[in-house]
Amino acid sequence: MINILITGGAGFIGSHVVRQFVIKYPDYRIFNLDVLTYAGNLENLKDIEDALNYTFIKGDITDEKFVNALFKEHKFDGVIHLAAESHVDRSIKDPLAFAKTNILGTMVLLNAFKNLWQENWIGKRFYHVSTDEVYGSLGKAGLFTETTAYDPNSPYSASKASSDHFVRAYGETYGMPYVISNCSNNYGPNHFPEKLIPLFINNIINNKALPVYGDGLFTRDWLYVKDHAIAIDLAFHEGKDSETYNIGGFNEWTNIDLVKLLCGLMDAKLQRPAGTSEKLITYVKDRPGHDLRYAIDASKINKELGWSPSVTFEEGLEKTIDWYLNNKTWLVNVTSGNYQEYYKSQYN
Ligand code: NAD
Ligand code: TYD
Repeated sequence: MINILITGGAGFIGSHVVRQFVIKYPDYRIFNLDVLTYAGNLENLKDIEDALNYTFIKGDITDEKFVNALFKEHKFDGVIHLAAESHVDRSIKDPLAFAKTNILGTMVLLNAFKNLWQENWIGKRFYHVSTDEVYGSLGKAGLFTETTAYDPNSPYSASKASSDHFVRAYGETYGMPYVISNCSNNYGPNHFPEKLIPLFINNIINNKALPVYGDGLFTRDWLYVKDHAIAIDLAFHEGKDSETYNIGGFNEWTNIDLVKLLCGLMDAKLQRPAGTSEKLITYVKDRPGHDLRYAIDASKINKELGWSPSVTFEEGLEKTIDWYLNNKTWLVNVTSGNYQEYYKSQYN
């Protein structure tokens, strides 16, 4: 048996990665380590929670004693590290929480893995899941490649950039085998409704204002979450040690164009007259330090590992909207309680 630790597996992307591995690799034991913050939700994994090769462990990646004991007990062959604080707006309000989880938490895992790896190096790999936001902001032209200089602008992206540097440093200093991937904005089922697409879907359902930051001309490159999970699976198994792979959707949208597309699709799904949801668009104060544009050049993972997105944006958005409309209880559960306080402090 091969023991794989996936951190942050109860979150948005992590739950899709856990499902991908549990189903595709019945001869691996998949351990999901997650502390279940506001963003972690075991409902995301209901369909596979009884699988024989799956174990959930509730715990904090910043708890060094606990993490070391866990690694000693299970002697993980591979780690796929996704656990993080992941929302830019929250990082502006509470940057220290991001430094703690994203930097210190990653270091605790790296250390624990280094100790194991030094005992027995055969077949081991640390896979670090990161973001294109580490590269900072693009102007109107150009794409992020694997050699673009790091230039993070938000506390979130600075903490992710720092964690990437520590992963590289462990590779350089101790020879520890690692792979890093930097991915563009994901969307899809199970996305917590604090990020643009699920927040706007939820607000359209509830006839609430759609708060577009600034002039709405900020650009993001969107990728369907299941395609990200497939890319992680591929790069974890077939990527080269000490390499970085950029993952993206070749799919750039300004926020306002994306919101208008979403409004049109939602009107059709909800059988409301065309133009109903667009009336909810409200321009609000811009996010401080707002990055103008992200866009990934994913040609390396395409050429070297044969990966490309399998779902078009129109297909992916439709699947996403259908998921939210068919999972209203999930949406109601995650938007009750603390979410309401977050929403008030962010948007009122
Ligand atoms: P998410 O916020 O939905 O989930 C994060 C998960 O990590 C949650 O389940 C949470 O409970 C868990 N977690 C947080 N702190 C923890 C701790 N101290 N110990 C253990 N578990 C903890 O995030 P996501 O959007 O799924 O992102 C996952 C990873 O992918 C992150 O590392 C993020 O930086 C990266 N990423 C995200 C995107 C995106 O568009 N969402 C794009 C590129 C990369
Ligand atoms: P988000 O989903 O938070 O992802 P990121 O900031 O990591 O790219 O935001 C995507 C884009 O949408 C970003 O340009 C900010 C913008 N945005 C809004 O205009 N209004 C909102 O309420 C949110 C959450 C985001």
